[in-house]
Amino acid sequence: MNAIDAIRTRRSLRQLADRPVPRDIIDDILALACTAPAPHHTRPWRYVIVSPERRAALAGAMGATWRTDLERDGHPQPRIEKLLRKSMRQITTAPALILACLTHEGLRDWPDDRRARNEFAMAQQSIGAGMQNIMLSAHALGLASYWISAPLFAPEACVAALALPDDYVAQAFIVLGYAPEGIEPKPRPSADNASLIIER
Ligand SMILES: Cc1cc2nc3c(=O)[nH]c(=O)nc-3n(C[C@H](O)[C@H](O)[C@H](O)COP(=O)(O)O)c2cc1C
Repeated sequence: MNAIDAIRTRRSLRQLADRPVPRDIIDDILALACTAPAPHHTRPWRYVIVSPERRAALAGAMGATWRTDLERDGHPQPRIEKLLRKSMRQITTAPALILACLTHEGLRDWPDDRRARNEFAMAQQSIGAGMQNIMLSAHALGLASYWISAPLFAPEACVAALALPDDYVAQAFIVLGYAPEGIEPKPRPSADNASLIIER
């Protein structure tokens, strides 16, 4: 599969077969993640391969943060329980679970908030490119994937539950796995991109 076909045909798939992803394939994919462009030659990314044994504690810690947010937002209790159950299931049953984190390593230390925020935004743009590398290379290798943004909303819970170094800032999960037999990601719906692209 060439790069253009991979970009064109990659889709998120959330229903995955109960089949492990070989470790060497995960390692190859993460090596490709680490070829992403990054601001001024930094490598601020940290990719955590989360073992199944750690998952329930991780989902529980993140769920506690999310529960507080949902309760504060006034959601009814049954809906909160349902959302948390789904999140627990996604995390604990993922065939392979990658937690993408950032550190400030190599990032410039600006004296003002505006530039400091933008410096970190550059690192976030870079890890977005790394995560796209993961999803595209997974797709090219016959795997499916999807992105879960929950860690961005509970970064401290991720660091504590996985005993990560203090300077890790959790950004997102990527779930990797094989498509169940007979299930294929839907082709990308045709979309009118005209309003997304302008000229000046
Ligand atoms: C920043 C970001 C956050 C996302 N968060 C989630 C998420 O929490 N859960 C999920 O199932 N998909 C998530 N997605 C995947 C999108 O829903 C998905 O990419 C989008 O619907 C387009 O579908 P496609 O990936 O098949 O093209 C996220 C994608 C991005 C880029």
